[in-house]
Amino acid sequence: MATQAKILKSDPQSLEACAQLLRDDALVAVPTETVYGLAGNALSVAAVRKIFSVKGRPLIDPLITHFKHANAAFSQVYVPESARALAAAFWPGPLTLVLKKRPGIPDLVTAGLSSAAIRVPNQPVMLALLQKLDFPLAAPSANPFGYVSPTRPEHVARTLGHKIGAILDGGHCQHGIESTILDLRDSDSPRLLRPGPIPIDDLASWLDRPIHAAEKTVPEAAQTSPGQLTKHYSPRTKLEIVEHGQLNYRGSTGEAVVANNKPDDAGQKNLFWLAEDGNLETVARNLFDLIQKLDHMQFRRIVVEAAPESGIGIAINDRLRRAAAPS
Ligand code: TXA
Ligand code: MG
Repeated sequence: MATQAKILKSDPQSLEACAQLLRDDALVAVPTETVYGLAGNALSVAAVRKIFSVKGRPLIDPLITHFKHANAAFSQVYVPESARALAAAFWPGPLTLVLKKRPGIPDLVTAGLSSAAIRVPNQPVMLALLQKLDFPLAAPSANPFGYVSPTRPEHVARTLGHKIGAILDGGHCQHGIESTILDLRDSDSPRLLRPGPIPIDDLASWLDRPIHAAEKTVPEAAQTSPGQLTKHYSPRTKLEIVEHGQLNYRGSTGEAVVANNKPDDAGQKNLFWLAEDGNLETVARNLFDLIQKLDHMQFRRIVVEAAPESGIGIAINDRLRRAAAPS
């Protein structure tokens, strides 16, 4: 029988143990500032193959490669000036750039595409681990394909713990939703592939040009941005969204009701909130954690209030819509 991976505190011995597992082509769940990643040596086809199989992820869905610093990342791709400017402003941080790739990162990582998705994460434990390695880490979110992303080590332990070498503890992830993904292959027309913690308006003002949203997903477009597939990040319990400000706090029998902020009269057992004061950064941070908690209670349905559609609220609503999409 497979053994359950340990959740390792980030002391020097544990960091070295995780580094050694990775050098040996094993997989380690790692903390990032967005969500936990399922990491393997990005330059080892054997390790990358394990990532796809452990996650149950189709091989057409490319992975993000994580680097210790921008120079390491930029050695693997062709770098327009705009990418350098964004990296200087937002790395380390929750921004993933899609750029034309140079020979180096295996085709398996990029699903045969001529581009690679790269980022430098901003999480001290993850950066300390990367410093110990002489290769970058390919890492999708550390959840079974299609399920809600993990924002605590226990989420990973519950779903993938029996299939991986170790889980490195970085606590509750700071942002709680996955990185913003920007396609800069054509730097004259940057495209947003996935909204995230860095709002699109911030990127547009930094670049001083408009950013277009990626076109709506049709099946053929799956390979340009598979994360755009509608059904993604879903709990097993049916999830329904209610417009911001329109939530009925009572709910009906068997329903969990989830508000953005704590309602004045918050006495009911089936009433939950994502941030006491409704702060959207906090809403994002708690979203996947609360959804997973509710998914393990016996609710018939989870009804969630949408965020206001601006700033990080755009990314929150994107994740809610995917979680609510019919399969
Ligand atoms: O915050 C994050 O980005 C987390 C942490 C672990 O870094 N990672 C994450 O990975 O969310 P994942 O695999 O769950 O989502 C990565 C997304 C996928 O939707 C994939 O399609 C897209 O990145 N992607 C990767 N390479 C791409 C490429 N060359 N072109 C377009 N999209 C790409
Ligand atoms: Mg994911």
